[in-house]
Amino acid sequence: MGDSSTSLHEDPGRLDEELIDRHRAIVSLMEELEAVDWYDQRVKASSNADLRAILAHNRDEEKEHACMVLEWLRRNDSKWHEELSTYLFSRGDVTQLEESEENGATGQGEHGHGELARDDSLGIGSLRGE
Ligand SMILES: [Fe+2]
Repeated sequence: MGDSSTSLHEDPGRLDEELIDRHRAIVSLMEELEAVDWYDQRVKASSNADLRAILAHNRDEEKEHACMVLEWLRRNDSKWHEELSTYLFSRGDVTQLEESEENGATGQGEHGHGELARDDSLGIGSLRGE
């Protein structure tokens, strides 16, 4: 189903362009993460130091690719934005973050960049610079 660049599970006629673009991003993210894992295993398994160095370099480039497409998802899906804002670069017990978020904690102090301070704008079109 779908064209060669997608793997949709529903009739594309019932979907829309925004959803299909999110699908493309999610599939790309999956592919990048899978590549990281494959390279990781090859780096560990190879006994050739030169090859290991190249594979490790390529593996780390896949991490960059994964982060770029994840950032696109954040900018184009408010729930991704909300969850990433809650969990990424947090400190302490990850399982407690949702609860403290629901209790209205802002996370000032423990969280160096004030990550839990709500910013519900998607920042579309601009990186939230340091
Ligand atoms: Fe890649």
